Amino acid sequence: MNPSYQLISLLPPPLSNLLEQVTLLANQQGTALWLVGGVIRDLLLGVPLGRDLDLVVEGDVAALSAALVAELGANLRAAHPEFGTASLAFDLDGAAVVLDLARARREVYPQPAVLPVVEPATLEEDLGRRDFSVNAMALELRIVDGHLCAGEWHDPFAGQADLSQRCLRLLHQQSLRDDPTRLLRGVRLAARLSLHLHPATQIQIRHALSQGYLGLLSPERILGEICLALEEPQPLRLLAHADAWRLTPQIVPGLHATPHLAARLARYAAHPPRSVVLSQVVAGLLCYDLTVDDLHALTQRYPLPSPFARLLSDVPRLRDLGPQLHTDLCPSQIDQLLRPYSDVAIHVLHYAETGIAAQRAMHYLEEMRPLRLPLDGRDIQRLGIAPGPAIGKILAELRTAYLDGVIQTREQAEAWVINNR
Ligand code: CTP
Repeated sequence: MNPSYQLISLLPPPLSNLLEQVTLLANQQGTALWLVGGVIRDLLLGVPLGRDLDLVVEGDVAALSAALVAELGANLRAAHPEFGTASLAFDLDGAAVVLDLARARREVYPQPAVLPVVEPATLEEDLGRRDFSVNAMALELRIVDGHLCAGEWHDPFAGQADLSQRCLRLLHQQSLRDDPTRLLRGVRLAARLSLHLHPATQIQIRHALSQGYLGLLSPERILGEICLALEEPQPLRLLAHADAWRLTPQIVPGLHATPHLAARLARYAAHPPRSVVLSQVVAGLLCYDLTVDDLHALTQRYPLPSPFARLLSDVPRLRDLGPQLHTDLCPSQIDQLLRPYSDVAIHVLHYAETGIAAQRAMHYLEEMRPLRLPLDGRDIQRLGIAPGPAIGKILAELRTAYLDGVIQTREQAEAWVINNR
């Protein structure tokens, strides 16, 4: 069945308005546009669309992107005229939508797992170079009577039928050898959209893993895929899929889905934090049970951005803090234990632990960390203390006394400083 008419009507109105304007400009230049890839898949499934949309352009990509910048105020994020690609951001009701334009192309992989050499090609060839059948459908955008309409529909690999059976199927035999990141893309898609593997794809995946194709990728490229995986809404599902595919040991040795991890991620999903980067918290929870050796190997293997590297190096100490936070502690002792750690690390501790330890971690973040003393360094100088290390020492002692309730007011704090100098 040709679903193209319904697909246009399923586009959210702000997006369909934008595509209408883009198609009008393209048609004025004699250029044809095709909506391809994830957006078609997600429209057919009726799931929310991503913020990046892919368009195949039959025409001059540079001329079209110049017109989109000039006429529609698009922000040109990247352009590679030699490959016929451009990435443009549009502001849609305060949220950025990115249109990735690309001339129809074929890809030649001179060696496994390296970036391909790209050549102009037909739309059919462009669809044939893609990863999965569900990502290889294209809908032509047309303007009829001034309005956005569906043009031709292309589904040469029966992606629509696969989608209706929730089946993930690679397009060709060399796919995973050409680009082993597709193993990680596949596991993300399968987990997010509840897709099962086509038997032939299952065999290809086993073969690719046994041949060690992932090892041919640079650590940067694997890390890029891991970062995308950390943004997925259901990290445990994703990990369970990666375990079932026997992918996890080649990416993060020592990691696997366990009931403990499931409980932690469920606590996180029930009350996600608001003030920290979620993917960092998820990474900390996933790695919470890794051995010191496995954590060290991870930080050696991947060029982790510094917040992730710091978090992973904190994990063994956070684990030790858990039991300590269950013991009898006064507020200033909790403060001393938790102060060296980032907000992300303490969130990880909060979700990883239960009972009083979890409560104390959250209480520390919400109440103790932001706490301001009734006196600051200048006030202490005014009370006759010379600038220097003594001020820091007094402030630390004052914080202890204040947290433990020995001092409650500014007057009491001043008296305490005068008596203790
Ligand atoms: N693609 C591919 N092989 C890759 C990367 C991308 O074949 N290694 C193709 C697929 O057709 C994919 C399209 O390029 O649909 C766009 O890729 P991307 O934007 O990364 O993913 P989406 O499919 O749009 O999915 P997501 O929702 O995860 O962004």
